[in-house]
Amino acid sequence: MKRIGILTSGGDCQALNVTMRGVAKGLYSIYGREGVEIFGFIDGYKGLMYEDYRKMTPVDFSGLLTVGGTILGSSRTPFKLIREPDENGLDKVEAMKYTYRRLRLDCLVVLGGNGSQKTANLLSEEGLNVIGLPKTIDNDLWGTDTTFGFQSAIAVATDVIDCIHTTASSHNRIFLVEIMGHKAGWLTLNAGIAGGADIILIPEIPYNIDSVIKKVEERSRSGHGFTILAVAEGAISQEVAAMDKKERKKALAKIAKEYPSGSYEIAAKITERTGKEVRVTVPGHMQRGGVPCAYDRVLSSRLGTTAALEISKGNFGNLVAIHDHKIITVPLKEVAGKLKTVDPTGDIIEEARLLGISFGDD
Ligand code: F6P
Repeated sequence: MKRIGILTSGGDCQALNVTMRGVAKGLYSIYGREGVEIFGFIDGYKGLMYEDYRKMTPVDFSGLLTVGGTILGSSRTPFKLIREPDENGLDKVEAMKYTYRRLRLDCLVVLGGNGSQKTANLLSEEGLNVIGLPKTIDNDLWGTDTTFGFQSAIAVATDVIDCIHTTASSHNRIFLVEIMGHKAGWLTLNAGIAGGADIILIPEIPYNIDSVIKKVEERSRSGHGFTILAVAEGAISQEVAAMDKKERKKALAKIAKEYPSGSYEIAAKITERTGKEVRVTVPGHMQRGGVPCAYDRVLSSRLGTTAALEISKGNFGNLVAIHDHKIITVPLKEVAGKLKTVDPTGDIIEEARLLGISFGDD
């Protein structure tokens, strides 16, 4: 009898359930329904720490293809605090190892992004059999071409920009759509291109407000009354980017004090300089919600079933990833702590520029 633990950690996304379904169906196919027991930990690593789990059955994994969120719940357990005892003095790492051993698990499957895979690697280094699966709408996980959740989030953010397009053109306004992505611009870049944004601002290409204004005015002069900006939540000006770490932290804290988010600061500057009406739309967590798109359903099913295969082969300590359309494995120790960001000189940026999109840097 194989005994497998599974958890979903960090910010949720649309295809977590589909991925778990893939793992479970794969395991049931390989070992038979009676040959495997799956333990689902509640709210991510917390469930593993505090022995909060559910014994899952095949029926739990049924009907999940179109269900967003996670049937196990998720939470953030910051890696930087993982070695610090909890409020009751509990050693979190020892507690997780204890639960794993007490349940006599053969493997722990971790569906998570950057921070979660760092903890997965730590547990692997501590001697547990761990397999990681690459989740995040941000697509910033190193070692995989794409993460599940990313394409679904692009679809949501693109829908938002599409809706903004019609109202922006009716009123001849400037609209900023603020898009998630933490420190990476993948989501903004892709939704911006798909939604036909005129200006895309991402953290990897610090912007210059003069260049942003220049593009807005060029559009006005050429008869376009409206302009749409896709702005990453982590977009940063060239001025702030040039500061040392301490100064930058101070500058960002000042913006956070004065505005609901960075997009509002950019909006205020555009109004001040052009006198035009500017509106900001922040779709926020909508981008992580709803039904997984078809691409993610396929990707998650492939990743999940491959994780089951890897378990059957006894290959642990890896992230199951996708590279060049093939499902591969990458050692967790190589993935841990690395961020995958947009290459400012990459092809997609050049292609976007050829479309006439400004990145606010010329
Ligand atoms: O990592 C996914 C993500 O949605 C980021 O894009 C965003 O910065 C962050 O999570 C929001 O976190 P929270 O859900 O904790 O507000």
